[in-house]
Amino acid sequence: MSLDLHAATSRQRADMVDRLKADGILTDPLLRDALLRVPREALLPHAYVRVSGPGADLIDCRLLDGSHPEDQEAWLELIHSDESILLQPDGDPLDALPRGPVTGGHMTSMSTYTPATIEVLQALGLAQGHRYLELGPGPGVSLALAAAVTGPGRAIGVERDRHMAAFAQRNLDRLGLGAAVVEDDALQGHQVGSFRPSEDGGRCFFFTSRCGSRPARRQEKEGFWSASACWTSSATWSWLKSRCGGRSMRIS
Ligand SMILES: C[S@@+](CC[C@H](N)C(=O)[O-])C[C@H]1O[C@@H](n2cnc3c(N)ncnc32)[C@H](O)[C@@H]1O
Repeated sequence: MSLDLHAATSRQRADMVDRLKADGILTDPLLRDALLRVPREALLPHAYVRVSGPGADLIDCRLLDGSHPEDQEAWLELIHSDESILLQPDGDPLDALPRGPVTGGHMTSMSTYTPATIEVLQALGLAQGHRYLELGPGPGVSLALAAAVTGPGRAIGVERDRHMAAFAQRNLDRLGLGAAVVEDDALQGHQVGSFRPSEDGGRCFFFTSRCGSRPARRQEKEGFWSASACWTSSATWSWLKSRCGGRSMRIS
């Protein structure tokens, strides 16, 4: 059965937003508009479905290719679900990943599950004109959402993996949101250049547990607000919320 991709993605986006609102997660109207505007299928053109359990170290997965008619329905449903989206095994190049089963190895990049992304972006209080810095943006979904709120040329991501940095930048360019990805190691601290965070309403989204909190603290010294998180689904949201009015917060 062939799928009308445009109609299907618009419907999936609208359903996702309705669900997040009904669950009380999505409250910010700017972010709601961003979620409706950003076609996540352009940033997540493939996704791995996990076959092994969540605790397993070695993974058993199946790659869904969004351009393959047999995968499209499952792929679209997955990328609009509340699951984390697994994108890259073992730092592999992202352009020629084989469709079908994959066994072994480790996922080195993913897109965080949407409810967590929403909570963090809302806690940062993003608004038009703010500067937004994301350390470890992966495929760039949260970066794109932030750019849709802040406006062109205001959102930047620092991504260590060269394949992922190029993949994210190419996909983001197609969306025309004016978001940039720099290939660099956030542990070394990224030169924010012409950013004047304290004057420009700097917001920093630090979303990778591997980095620890060192780079986030460095960015805070530059005047950014920062949010740090690990990608567990057992995050203690009440603690996050109690801290999010301050300059810095951490989900653990
Ligand atoms: C779990 S993904 C998160 C992607 C995105 N922030 C999100 O929340 O959807 C973490 C990303 O951080 C990147 N990363 C890990 N350590 C890094 C470092 N030291 N500097 C820059 N990027 C890093 C990984 O390559 C990966 O793409």
